[in-house]
Amino acid sequence: MFAVYADEFSSDDPVSVLKVGERPDPVVPDGWARVSVQAASLNHHDLWSLRGVGLRQEALPMILGCDAAGYDEDGNEVVVHAVVNDPSWTGDDTLDPKRSILSERHQGTFAETVVVPRRNIVRKPATMSFEEAACLPTAWLTAYRMLFTQGGLKAGDTVLVQGAGGGVATALISLARAGGLRVFATSRDEAKRARALELGAHEVFESGARLPIKVDAVMETVGRATWSHSIRSLRPGGAIVISGTTSGAQLDDAELTRIFFLQLRVVGSTMGTREELAALVNLCDATGVRPLIDRTLPMTEAREGFAAMAAGDLFGKVVLTR
Ligand SMILES: NC(=O)c1ccc[n+]([C@@H]2O[C@H](COP(=O)([O-])OP(=O)(O)OC[C@H]3O[C@@H](n4cnc5c(N)ncnc54)[C@H](OP(=O)(O)O)[C@@H]3O)[C@@H](O)[C@H]2O)c1
Repeated sequence: MFAVYADEFSSDDPVSVLKVGERPDPVVPDGWARVSVQAASLNHHDLWSLRGVGLRQEALPMILGCDAAGYDEDGNEVVVHAVVNDPSWTGDDTLDPKRSILSERHQGTFAETVVVPRRNIVRKPATMSFEEAACLPTAWLTAYRMLFTQGGLKAGDTVLVQGAGGGVATALISLARAGGLRVFATSRDEAKRARALELGAHEVFESGARLPIKVDAVMETVGRATWSHSIRSLRPGGAIVISGTTSGAQLDDAELTRIFFLQLRVVGSTMGTREELAALVNLCDATGVRPLIDRTLPMTEAREGFAAMAAGDLFGKVVLTR
């Protein structure tokens, strides 16, 4: 079958080692099911995989892609939950020490067909396109858990979203607005700040700029470049919820003094559970909120999407269609 995959790594130039071509049809283990992929979306995770981060040499060749929407074996329109648990695990999907995300241990979604445990299949509402649904399982699910589970935010609270243009960041802005929050966002780029306002941010700021008020929580995916600003933007007792370190994980100043003196909470967040994905699908269905798509490309032209993501030249999600 046709697929977009990795069979080597490059830490400096990940896009140069991307492969587009034929891979064997998947076998379906007991308890797993085939999904005919109609749309899949790109995440920064796919670039990390090509760099050899989170993907082991022994697992190559590996079809990339965490997110998909398509048809199950009975012809139902479905969304695929990307977190695969150990069969013996019973708790929160994201706390299973043996969990993996599609394309780490099991073949990913950038292909004609993906095979997943049956419990990882969630119904897609008819009101949502395959392209929109394909954006939900990683970036949007991560944003949902950051805001409402790990951040514990509720209507009326104020949140800062760092790095407005990213897939997770655009999801955070849309979902925070839909959830009744006051939304501040930063971006290095003026045009992206303008688009963040259109998307639902109440106010936008240059990266590092002083905010008019301290916020209840900061949603952090950028890491090194924005960490100090995030900590300095919080009210006493506020929370920084972190799910990524795009600009690097080595901090110049961890701001430890502020963290203890202002009694700040630093909370990690990774992906989400199947139940949170189902709740997110319902939230989108009920409110009409939809993922912002930067561009849609046929899977054969995946390289263009990877290059745009590597260059940071995106506002919203890149969707690949079959
Ligand atoms: N833990 C999880 O479950 C999980 C799930 C999904 C993603 N992630 C992680 O979250 C991060 C974002 O993922 P994504 O898919 O949204 O990536 P993306 O679409 O490539 O977004 C990257 C964003 O980071 C900002 N940025 C990058 N370098 C920066 C710098 N030097 N200074 C300031 N801002 C910078 C950019 O904002 P501006 O250009 O607007 O300034 C850009 O919008 C990645 O590290 C990814 O691995 C984690």
